[in-house]
Amino acid sequence: MDLSTQYLGLDLKNPIVASSSPLTWDLKKAVALQQAGVAAIIMPSLFEEQIENEQAQLDRFIHQQSIGHSETDNFHPQLADYMDYQNKYLSQLELLKGELDIPVIASLNGISEGGWVQNAVDLEQAGADALELNIYYVAANPDETGLQVEQRYLSLFKAIKSQVKLPICVKITHQFSAIGWMVKQLEQAGAAGVSVFNRFYQPDIDLETLHIVPKLELSHSFEALLRIRWVAMLRHHVSLSLAITGGIHTAEDALKGLLAGADITCMCSVLLDQGPQQITRVLEQMSLWMMDKEYESVSQLKGSLSYINAVNPEAFERANYLEIMDSYSRASGVMV
Ligand SMILES: Cc1cc2nc3c(=O)[nH]c(=O)nc-3n(C[C@H](O)[C@H](O)[C@H](O)COP(=O)(O)O)c2cc1C
Repeated sequence: MDLSTQYLGLDLKNPIVASSSPLTWDLKKAVALQQAGVAAIIMPSLFEEQIENEQAQLDRFIHQQSIGHSETDNFHPQLADYMDYQNKYLSQLELLKGELDIPVIASLNGISEGGWVQNAVDLEQAGADALELNIYYVAANPDETGLQVEQRYLSLFKAIKSQVKLPICVKITHQFSAIGWMVKQLEQAGAAGVSVFNRFYQPDIDLETLHIVPKLELSHSFEALLRIRWVAMLRHHVSLSLAITGGIHTAEDALKGLLAGADITCMCSVLLDQGPQQITRVLEQMSLWMMDKEYESVSQLKGSLSYINAVNPEAFERANYLEIMDSYSRASGVMV
C-alpha cells in the first residue's frame, strides 16, 4: 500500500505526523515515534512570552553591566545564564535533526510582531525542515474587530515569512467568522499550509478556592469531526497543504480526514495516552481498510469525499440542520 503524501513540499512516507507535545522534544521519545512509523514530528513551540521575557532579562543585565557593580560582580548572573531557552531549543532541534531520519518541523507560538520573530532565522539555520506558526490568540477585547484579529494573524505571518525561505504552516483556530477567507488570505500571503484547528485549553472555576484554574484535557475522537468538515469545505478553494490536528485518535479518524482532503493527520493526545504503538496500529488498520475498499494509495484517497467530490456535499453545510434536530430521539424512560 502506498501511504506516501506531500506536506509543505516535503515527501512523507505516510500521513501520520506527531504534533507538538513533550513527546516530540525528548530524543528517546522521538526515536520511539519514528520506530513506530510516524512520518514527521512537530517540535513543541518556542513561545513568544518566554523569548521576550528572556530578552527583557538580558536587557536588564546589559544595563547593569554598563552601570558596573564592582565588588558585587560575583553575585550577579553571567551572560551565559541568559538566552538559555532559545539556545536549548536550537540545540534540541539540531540533536533531533542529527538523530532522526524523518523531517523535523520546528514550531513558533505567539500573537504579536516583535523581535522574537527573528528566531525563525535561527530555526532555519539549525536545520528545521519546515516551520509551524501557532497563533493562539483569544480575541478577548470586545473593541477589537474581526478584521483587526484577522490582520493580526496576517501581519504576524508576513513578519515571520519575510525572515525565512522555510515552508510555513499556520496553526489556526476555528473561531473566525469566515474561515475560508482567512485561509485564502494566508495562502495569498505565502503560507505553505494551514493546520486546523488549535484546541483552546479552557480555564475552569475551582468551587473550593474560587480561583480560576487552567485545565488541559486530552481530546476525544469526536473533536476531529469539526476539522474534517472544514477541510472538506476548504479543499477545493485552496491549493496549500492542509493538516488536521485535534481528535485524530484512530485509523478511522485519520481516514476520514484524508477522504475530506487533508494531506496529513496529526496525533498528540492519543500518543500521550496510549504511547507510540498507536501509530503502528493506525497505519496497519489504514492499509487494511484501503485494501478492502480497493484504494491503492493515499493520493488516490485524498479528497475523494471533499465538498466537490462528495455525493451529498450539502451535509457539510446547513442543509441537514433541521433533519438532524428532528432525528434526535430520547433514551427510553427519559422524560416520557
Ligand atoms: C501536553 C501538550 C502540550 C502541547 N504543546 C504544544 C505546543 O508546544 N505547541 C503547539 O502548537 N501545540 C501544542 N499542543 C497541542 C497539540 O500539538 C495538538 O495540536 C492538540 O493537542 C490537538 O491534537 P490532539 O487532539 O491529537 O491532542 C500540546 C498539547 C498537549 C496535550
